[in-house]
Order: sequence, then C-alpha cells, then structure tokens
Amino acid sequence: MTTSFLNRHKLIERHVTLLAALALVAVAIGGIVEIAPLFWIQSTVTRVEGVRPHSPLELAGRDIYVREGCYGCHSQMIRPFRDEVERYGHYSLAAESMYDHPFQWGSKRTGPDLARVGGRYSDEWHVQHLRAPQSVVPESIMPPYGFLAERELDGERVGAHLTALSRVGVPYSAEQIAQAAADFDAQATGEGDTAALLKRYPKAQARDYDGDPGRVTEMDALIAYLQSLGTQVDFRAAQAQEQRR
Ligand code: HEC
Repeated sequence: MTTSFLNRHKLIERHVTLLAALALVAVAIGGIVEIAPLFWIQSTVTRVEGVRPHSPLELAGRDIYVREGCYGCHSQMIRPFRDEVERYGHYSLAAESMYDHPFQWGSKRTGPDLARVGGRYSDEWHVQHLRAPQSVVPESIMPPYGFLAERELDGERVGAHLTALSRVGVPYSAEQIAQAAADFDAQATGEGDTAALLKRYPKAQARDYDGDPGRVTEMDALIAYLQSLGTQVDFRAAQAQEQRR
C-alpha cells in the first residue's frame, strides 16, 4: 500500500502541470477556510459599546485626511505593546475601525500614531500646527496645510457618501442620511439642532473648529475628525467595570 501511494506521488512530482494544478487546489482550500469567515464580519469583530459610524462632518474630515495622504506618515493603530500603550493609550480594538472604509491603520510612522489624538490638543493647537507645524514643534518635518482654512466646504453632498457607506454595511439609518446636511452644519457651527445631532451621533462635538466662525472650511472638518479619533470608547468606564467584577 505504501509503495502504491509513493508511486502515485511520483506521478504528481514528475508532471509539473499536475503538481501546479493540485498545489493550487490545496492553497485555495486553505485560503477559503482562512478568508471566507472574515466576510461575515459580525462574527469576527466583537462589538464594543460606544463605537458608532462617523458623523457627516467627521466623515468629510476623514475624506480630506485620505485625500492629503496623511496616512503616508501617520498610522492609526496602537499595537498591544507596552511602549505603544504608554505613549498612545489603550491599544486599538478591531471594533474601533469597523466602520472605516478604507481603514487607516497604516504601516508607516514618520509622525506619531493618531488613533487616540482626539482631545489631546486644543483646536487652536491643531490650526496652528496644520498651518505651520514647525511653529509648535520646531524639529517637525510635517508639511504645512494652511490652505485647508481657505477652502470652503458644505454638507450638500455628504448624504450621498453616507448612502454609499450604508451599501457596504455601515449602519447609517434613513434618518441619518436624510439629515446629513443639517447635522454637518450643526456640528461645524455649534448652531442649529445640536441636540438631534448628539442623539444621532453620541459624543459628537459641535463647535467652530478653525477659529473662523463665519464659514465652514476643510480645516473645520479635518480638525473635527482629528478631535474625534479614539474618543468613542470609554476605556476608563470599561476598566472600572473590569475591576468591580
Ligand atoms: C511627511 C510626513 C507627514 C505628513 C504627510 C503628515 N504628517 Fe502629521 N506629523 C508628522 C511628524 C513628523 C509629526 C511629529 C512632529 C509634529 O508634531 O509636527 C507629526 C505630527 C502630527 C500631529 C500631532 C500628533 C501628536 O500626537 O503630537 C497631528 C495631529 C498630525 N501630525 C496630523 C497630520 C494630518 C492631519 C496630516 C494630513 C493633513 C499630516 N499630519 C500629514 C509628519 C507628517
């Protein structure tokens, strides 16, 4: 029996095409077993309290972040190592980027990780830093982005973006999509129905971000996005709960 098995194996080893075809089949089976379950993402990512889809203004800011290629120098994923956790805070959870399309984990850190930069600096600091990074961090090699403060932005098209994301599984409700422009304006100015905004997007911070209340600019949106990063999950509450157990 052993010899016949070896003989058959010899057959495979002597026919390159057959070997390649069978190797492909073997790899495909392995691949399907590993990859297919990931498509049913609910079972792969543990839900975490507090994680919600980005608000319209944060989403617009995120678009600018992607457009300007900030990810080329900044990652948004804190790894579970002591040096990273001490510098940046609690390591990133999969759930925290479950609504990001595409995710911004990144692999290059010319600058620091930004996964939890929200609330670390004031809006004024961000404006100053984005206009002239070297004026606040002299040794910085980050390029200036002052032009963002000159480019006006409105929320007219952001509803379409929410619709597109809902098609790939981000749970935006019909109401959130219908109110996208209103929520965008309310968050960028701190005026209008901010109570409804907060109900739809808990913890959303509504105010003028760029120090120019007369108009809404790309700077407003980008800073709103930066200030929201890493603020959705309340890790202190989670840790207190853990200790009480
Ligand atoms: C060429 C690389 C590069 C690019 C591109 C870049 N940055 Fe930076 N960034 C840095 C470096 C280096 C630092 C650290 C020095 C400093 O604070 O300026 C930094 C710091 C920061 C900080 C402060 C982080 C902290 O924890 O102190 C923020 C916020 C930031 N960048 C946002 C952005 C945004 C938003 C963009 C895109 C509009 C961007 N950066 C593009 C290199 C870059």
